[in-house]
Amino acid sequence: MKLDTLLIKYMVVAVMGVFIVSCESDDTEYTLLTPEDGEAFSGGETTVFDISQNAFGFQAPNLDTENGLFFFTGNSLFNQNWVTAPASTTARDGLGPLFNARSCSGCHFKDGRGRAPITDGELSSGLLFRLSIPGTDEFGANLPDPNYGGQLQDDSILGLDTEGHVTIDYEQVVVTYPDGNSVTLQKPLYTFENLSYGSLAASIQISPRVANQMIGLGLLDAIPEATLLGFADISDSNGDGISGKPNYVYDVETQSLKLGRFGWKSNQPTLKQQVAGAFLGDMGITSSLFLEENCPPTIDCNTISNGGSPEISDENLDKVALYSATLGVPGRRNHEDQSILQGKELFEQVNCIACHIPKMETGSYHIEALENQTIRPYTDLLLHDMGEGLADNTPDFEATGKEWRTAPLWGIGLIETVNGHTNLLHDGRARNIEEAILWHDGEAASSKTAFMNLIVEDRTKLIDFIKSL
Ligand code: HEC
Ligand code: HEC
Repeated sequence: MKLDTLLIKYMVVAVMGVFIVSCESDDTEYTLLTPEDGEAFSGGETTVFDISQNAFGFQAPNLDTENGLFFFTGNSLFNQNWVTAPASTTARDGLGPLFNARSCSGCHFKDGRGRAPITDGELSSGLLFRLSIPGTDEFGANLPDPNYGGQLQDDSILGLDTEGHVTIDYEQVVVTYPDGNSVTLQKPLYTFENLSYGSLAASIQISPRVANQMIGLGLLDAIPEATLLGFADISDSNGDGISGKPNYVYDVETQSLKLGRFGWKSNQPTLKQQVAGAFLGDMGITSSLFLEENCPPTIDCNTISNGGSPEISDENLDKVALYSATLGVPGRRNHEDQSILQGKELFEQVNCIACHIPKMETGSYHIEALENQTIRPYTDLLLHDMGEGLADNTPDFEATGKEWRTAPLWGIGLIETVNGHTNLLHDGRARNIEEAILWHDGEAASSKTAFMNLIVEDRTKLIDFIKSL
């Protein structure tokens, strides 16, 4: 039965226990809400219905057999520990000399979301620090710190000092709702310690980032560029206070600027480059895209044995990229519940959808299973100024120090099941969905204010809707 809105009176409502409780007068009218056709299928035909700890780790069910085999190998390259060279397993050696983790899954645990370390010195929790100094290179990319490069590596091979480590303190920030309820947010403050290779540049820019969940990334890649540019409104010509700006970033393979889609600032153009960048930056594994070892300036890396040049073959790099593209998207839970549907309406009403765009279609793509799918990622992949509070003060190609990519919200309600925490935002500072919303500012200020002006029951419905994604 396809219903738009159906008004029903008190008598009919009597079968729906929830409403009897909140019913105030006999002549109140209720709207029976219905989900859209196919709404539960967040990733179209790639959707997976599983609510176990493995919910993010399934291959898209519509993947063909050949790609299924690539996925299988990619999966093992993603999950297994890489080892230092020389080793008997030449396909997986070359770790370091500096690194943050021994495997991709060290940070993307169960293909899920990283978090800030809980104990001092905890390694590979999934939070890393990008480093840069003001200015850009010939391709428009950030300039690395002269001593520490583009990222702090807090682990190293035997016999070599790590670059250092970071301790985190939190400043409390109290936010009070118009109804008098208040929430204490925590803002992270970082201290860099035990720096082994000299000091950081005086003008150092530090950008903390946690590992994203890996679901549906190929679908995001398969959204036609025209669709994403259609969401953009760089000069805010419709005057809604929300601009939406595409990032254009350097694509190493084509040696040209391309629309950025991946990373917290849409700072990577393709999954392959994102993956190759992770192999080098996070694990010290060279590839044909990035051939040069990441080496401290005082060390001669030629004296350290490596795993060949490149350390990961193109064939294996492609398999990890394929794997990263084809993890299925979790289907919705409870999407037919009236209170969840009301939460969805509230999400629209307070204009969260201006950036977290619910629904779009993918176009043609080199992986057939991802083509022409109706997907519900809740993002525009564009950059938005989110205000001073969230700023990392690190520009990244077109992104300013206050701009971030609208985070896709699909799967977000399952992070707790998969990763055992509910921490959100680019640096994991928000301890739950409510805190994440309350950090919104800048272009999202009026939407945040509208959320804060809702009565507490409605705020809960909106949050429960996000949990059902
Ligand atoms: C040290 C932790 C760490 C390791 C190890 C790591 N990643 Fe990541 N990953 C991150 C972080 C942090 C981001 C966000 C990066 C950014 O915003 O620039 C990310 C982002 C990504 C993205 C983009 C996700 C999105 O939503 O845009 C992909 C794909 C990815 N990583 C794949 C990999 C692969 C493949 C490996 C192994 C070769 C790997 N990662 C290893 C931390 C890690
Ligand atoms: C102006 C664009 C914009 C609007 C409007 C907006 N958001 Fe966001 N949202 C973002 C961006 C950008 C991020 C990532 C910010 C970061 O990580 O620092 C984000 C992150 C989030 C996150 C955390 C996601 C994650 O994976 O960590 C949640 C939850 C969220 N938004 C919910 C909402 C809700 C609810 C509303 C409406 C009240 C809303 N957003 C309105 C742009 C927007």
